[in-house]
This record gives sequence, structure tokens and C-alpha cells, in this order.
Amino acid sequence: MSALQPAMADWRVAGESIALVPTMGALHAGHMALVDQARGIADRVVATIFVNPLQFGANEDLGRYPRREADDAAMLEAHGCDLLWLPVASELYPPGFATSIAVAGVSERWDGAARPGHFDGVATVVAKLFTAVRPDLALFGEKDFQQLAVIRRMTLDLGLGIEIIGAATVRDDDGLALSSRNFYLSDDERQRALALPQALGEASSSIRAGEPVSAVLDQAKHRLTEAGFGRIDYVALVDAATLEPLAVAAGEMRLIAAATIGTTRLIDNISVVSATLSPCDM
Ligand code: PAF
Repeated sequence: MSALQPAMADWRVAGESIALVPTMGALHAGHMALVDQARGIADRVVATIFVNPLQFGANEDLGRYPRREADDAAMLEAHGCDLLWLPVASELYPPGFATSIAVAGVSERWDGAARPGHFDGVATVVAKLFTAVRPDLALFGEKDFQQLAVIRRMTLDLGLGIEIIGAATVRDDDGLALSSRNFYLSDDERQRALALPQALGEASSSIRAGEPVSAVLDQAKHRLTEAGFGRIDYVALVDAATLEPLAVAAGEMRLIAAATIGTTRLIDNISVVSATLSPCDM
């Protein structure tokens, strides 16, 4: 934080706007798209890298989460990020830290149910990053669609006055959403994982064609199982703002899914309005 405040004080005096891109590192083109977008709309871009222990469950991958700060810093610099802040845990969580932010409703289903406490950890660290950096706006990928909804709700509820911008999911040419967790996939798993965006794309088309939602979701789950996914946490059609499940197509909708291939849990989502798969967004 010591390096953080002096630079930002100068920017504030100069009346410059500040965009924040919070990350856990292991950066890829999806993160760089956030930085590029941030540069286009703010005078200054601050990125953070912090692998937040609060958002990992006891049996999750905190210990093996990929860490490559030197490569990350080089990528951020190449994309014109003005400042990289790598807080240590004690800067964010002082001894005796006892505060947790829980966003009711939108946090509770889906990943909230599959990963108890996960969104409390996300909301708490994002609130800490927001209060340390005090950005004018902050960018998050739509890839973590529920996380984006949780952060929007928290920011509104706490009156933080920060504009939250959701950026379209970046995908490889074959459709797989970029994710730091893709590093865990073997070549064979990487190939089989393509069934996830494909199943969502097919389900989106079927729903737009008027097929019954429950049959479409069952078909998508079947497709994942056939491709070799093990545990399927959910495949659901939800309201895009509240993430409440929809039994019939209505309003602004999102298809969301989480499933595990090998030992790697992948999530993905697709708008039901735009049913066409493209490398940038679905
Ligand atoms: O999406 C992530 O990388 C993390 O959940 C975030 C928002 C940086 C909070 O740790």
C-alpha cells in the first residue's frame, strides 16, 4: 500500500480518473482485455494481484493456484497498466481481522451453494481493494457472471460510488473461455472441455427456438457427461440480474454452468439473446 498511495495522490490532485482491475494473477488475454478496456475509459489503470485465501474452501486449489508474478507484471506493463499493486495478506487482513461481507440472495445459489463462503471471501476482498484504491470504476470479466452480480449488488448496497463494468468473456478460437484454471488441464481434458461452451451454445439456440427449458438443460448435462465431465454442479437458465432460476424463458436471461473435468472445475455462461458463439463472447 505504501507504493500505492503516493502515485494515486498525484493522479487525484491532477483530477485523473482511476480504473481498477483486481486479479489473482496467472494473467491471460482475458485480463489484458480488461486492462485495454480500462485504458480506453479512464486516465489511469491500477491492477492488483492477490490470491485471496478467504475465497478458497478447505479442499480447493489455494496451495496450487498458479503464481507467475514476473510474467504478469511484464504483461501488464506491455498493456499500459500504470500501477501494479501486490498486497501481502497482512495489508488487507490485519491481525484480528474479523469482518466479512455477505451479499444475500445473489450469492446464495449456484457457486454460492457449491462453494460455501466463496462469495463472502470475494465480496470482502473486493471491498478491501476498493477502499484501498478508491477507484472511479472497476472492471470484472463476465466469465465469472455470478461474481460480477455479487460485486454489483455490494457496490450498490454499500453506496461505494464505483462504476462496475462487466467485460465480455474472452475465448480461445475453439470457444473455450480463458481461465487461469485452464493451466491445470491436460491436452485431453482441454479437448473434452470444449463440450462446455458447445453445450451452452446448443442450449441457448434450443431455448431461443422455444424448446422446454428443463429438457434443454437435461440435454446439456447429458452432453457434458458424455464428453467426460464428472461432477456437474449446475447447468441453469437464470435471470441475468438476480440469478434466480427460470423454468420458462423470459426477460434478460443467462445460461450458466459449472462442471469438473479431471480435477479441474470449470465455469462458463452465455447470454441467451446472442446465441452465436464467437471468440469474444457468447
Ligand atoms: O476474479 C478474480 O480473479 C477474483 O475473484 C477477484 C475478483 C480478484 C477477487 O479476489
